[in-house]
Amino acid sequence: MLILGLNMFHADASAAIVQDGEVVFAIAEERLNRHKHYGGFPSLAVKACLDSVGAKVTDIDHVAIGQDSDANLAKKVQYALSNPTKILNFIRLRQRKEATRNVRSLLANALDVDPRLLRFQEHHVEHHIAHVASAYYCSPWEEAAGFSYDGSGDFVSTMMARCEGTDIEILDRIFLPHSLGSFYTMICEFIGYKKYGDEGKVMGLAPYGKHTYCGQIGEIIGLKNGSFQLDLDYFKPLGSNQGVQIQPDGTVILARHFSERMAKLFGEPREPHTKITQREMDLAFGMQHHFEEVFFHLLNELYKKVPLENLAMAGGCALNSVANGKLFSRTSFRHTWIQPAAGDEGLAIGAALHTYHAVLKQPRRYVMKNPYLGPEFSESRIETDLKKANLQYRRFERDPLVEAVAEQIAAGNVVGWFQGRMEWGPRALGNRSIGAHPGLPNMKDTLNARIKHREWFRPFAPSIM
Ligand SMILES: [Fe+2]
Repeated sequence: MLILGLNMFHADASAAIVQDGEVVFAIAEERLNRHKHYGGFPSLAVKACLDSVGAKVTDIDHVAIGQDSDANLAKKVQYALSNPTKILNFIRLRQRKEATRNVRSLLANALDVDPRLLRFQEHHVEHHIAHVASAYYCSPWEEAAGFSYDGSGDFVSTMMARCEGTDIEILDRIFLPHSLGSFYTMICEFIGYKKYGDEGKVMGLAPYGKHTYCGQIGEIIGLKNGSFQLDLDYFKPLGSNQGVQIQPDGTVILARHFSERMAKLFGEPREPHTKITQREMDLAFGMQHHFEEVFFHLLNELYKKVPLENLAMAGGCALNSVANGKLFSRTSFRHTWIQPAAGDEGLAIGAALHTYHAVLKQPRRYVMKNPYLGPEFSESRIETDLKKANLQYRRFERDPLVEAVAEQIAAGNVVGWFQGRMEWGPRALGNRSIGAHPGLPNMKDTLNARIKHREWFRPFAPSIM
């Protein structure tokens, strides 16, 4: 049985293919079209998925999409009715969703086949159910607490679940506008990081800050009855898309999240590319501090409902590795399984696995043992491409290669390391990585000047390969 999982017309569009319950290939469209966080239809990713199993789109039995615009509809309508600008936004979004909903014709167009030949059944899986599924169904566990949190998806920012066997039982949802992801995004924008996906950068700024604004930031977000709430005065009125828009070319645009009240409390917002001052560091510190307070509060509430040691987690906020590192000291969970593609590209896997287990009632047999689910290239293909590009190369066997690379790194050179299948998710984990000597002074500056062009405060991860 072939299930094609999709995240489409949403940031980090992606596709995954599940064959008889096993994820055999998964990739974000941005890796193929080089358009960061691409939010259109993942045509190239779908083609790559089909190629990986030697199938045609007409062979697909099920297509699972990690979005269900009918989910939580009553909550959406209730929110939209609260003021006229939100109603317009709500109608516009519904129209856009309707227009982009015809998966059959989208796939037929992308693959140039007659839509009448497509025989798949279509499934829509609610955003956060797909996130939880992307973690739990990839874990080795027969039972776990499930947790997902991000900016928003299908009008929800946070989901808690009990996962057992092939079932995911939803225990709680936190609806918009209350969102830990939006809280983080809003302060990131205020301190000059306005692009979709910039949150990860600001996480690296937090340790340079002090407690200065922790009190004031505590006014913006607070704990409430086992949950949390935002003081909406600090935010621009949020639409039902939480201020994220997808342009016709697939570019993801973030609308301004912060209101004038932020400037009253903290002074004028920082313009991008101007100097970062102690104020921005202290704001980043306060933001990370309160993010963690709420995160651990929610997890401890989840533990009360599902007192198991296993925690399966996904959602864009689950990429906050600083918070994740404190999980065992701040909660009673003792084992985690965090989806490597915790952001929205992971929805493709989650929707497909949820369809296989929860909808089609198929037993579990798959465990994701590593994140290497992307394409790989044969040596002959690599050699042909090197020749085509007129690049100088030398061929090594494995052991002399490792020795030569180690020598280069020891001599202070920077090495590009390309092997096997591409990583699934945003982290470079040894198959498409840059190697350099962490012990040499100025190596971080060298890497930034030559390749990464990152801000001075962003860390590099040391690893042993
Ligand atoms: Fe998400």
